Formats: sequence, C-alpha cells, structure tokens
Amino acid sequence: MTLRKALPGDVRGLYLLEQALFSAENFPLSKQSLYYHVRHNLLYLAQSETGEIAGYVLALVRRKDAKIYSLGVAQSFRGNKLAQKLMALVMKELDSLGFKRSLLEVRTDNPGAIYLYKSLGFSVTKRLEAFYRDGYDAYLMEAKNGGEKLPGTLGHL
Ligand SMILES: CC(C)(COP(=O)(O)OP(=O)(O)OC[C@H]1O[C@@H](n2cnc3c(N)ncnc32)[C@H](O)[C@@H]1OP(=O)(O)O)[C@@H](O)C(=O)NCCC(=O)NCCS
Repeated sequence: MTLRKALPGDVRGLYLLEQALFSAENFPLSKQSLYYHVRHNLLYLAQSETGEIAGYVLALVRRKDAKIYSLGVAQSFRGNKLAQKLMALVMKELDSLGFKRSLLEVRTDNPGAIYLYKSLGFSVTKRLEAFYRDGYDAYLMEAKNGGEKLPGTLGHL
C-alpha cells in the first residue's frame, strides 16, 4: 500500500470509490468537484499494489479553519487502520500549513467514524440538526492539529 497525493489522473478511480461509498443524501463528490479538489485542496489516497484506490481523505484548505471534508476506505480494505493513517497524514500536513485546528462533520448514526475521529483527538462541539438530505443530524467535531499520536507519513506502508 502506498500513501500519496492524488493527481488529476486519479479522478476516475476516486469517483468510482466515492459512488460506492456514499449515497445521494451523503453528497458524493462529482468528477468536476474531484478535479477541483485535486488541484486546490489536500487530497491524499492509498493505492494498493495492484493499482486500486483503497481509500482517500480530502481536506479543504482555502478557508480560515481547515475542514476534513471526506474520508473513505473501500470495503475490502477496511479494518487495516488505513483511515487512521490517512487522517494522521492529512492532519500533519494541515499542521505544517499553519492550521491550528481541523473541523469535520459526521453523521450521528456513524459510530465507527465517530470512534475513529475521537481516537485521533477530535471531540464533538455541536449537533447540526437535519444536516443531511435524509434529515439526519451531523456532529461538528474539532481537533487541535499537531497532537496526532500516529506518524502520518507519505510512501509505502
Ligand atoms: C469509517 C471508515 C473510513 C473506516 O475505515 P477503516 O480503514 O476501516 O478504519 P481504520 O481501520 O483506520 O479504523 C481505525 C479505528 O476506528 C474505529 N472504527 C473504524 N471503523 C469502525 C466501525 N465500522 N465500527 C466501529 N469502529 C470502527 C475502530 O476503533 C478502529 O480501530 P480498531 O480496528 O483497532 O478497532 C470506513 O468504514 C468507510 O469508508 N466508511 C464509509 C464512509 C464513511 O463513513 N466515511 C466517514 C464519514 S465521512
């Protein structure tokens, strides 16, 4: 497995993964949005030895506070700490860009992701009522950057 910055040539694979991960009410990213984010934000991916995109993380950086906008790991690659490593990597990068904290929104019915974020230092600061298209609430979570327990490095795992 290799962790690296996404390139425009990765957009097709990222789009397919995005479609597999998120239903319409969870705002899956379009190809156009993915091209934009590859160019203007932080998008890191994990690529398997066979070239498959196993997971990715996207952080928005053209704002005062960085926001972890999306995180996903393909079903067959889950449970290997890949999400944890992608998150540690992007938080480290945000820290080095000068962002003091990271924000994110997560569905209140996604305990796995909430647990993962808590393990990385995030805590819930607010409940956002009916945030998603299906009426579900989100938690707004926040973490200080620079305090990650994991190394967060690019390259081969
Ligand atoms: C949430 C998601 C990114 C986790 O990916 P992953 O690579 O399997 O996660 P990791 O292996 O790094 O998990 C690290 C820790 O998070 C917690 N965790 C992750 N998924 C969990 C789940 N489904 N249930 C409970 N805890 C979970 C566990 O504590 C885990 O540590 P452990 O394996 O020692 O128990 C993945 O399930 C996914 O892509 N889901 C669909 C999209 C999504 O919900 N994205 C996040 C919201 S935007």
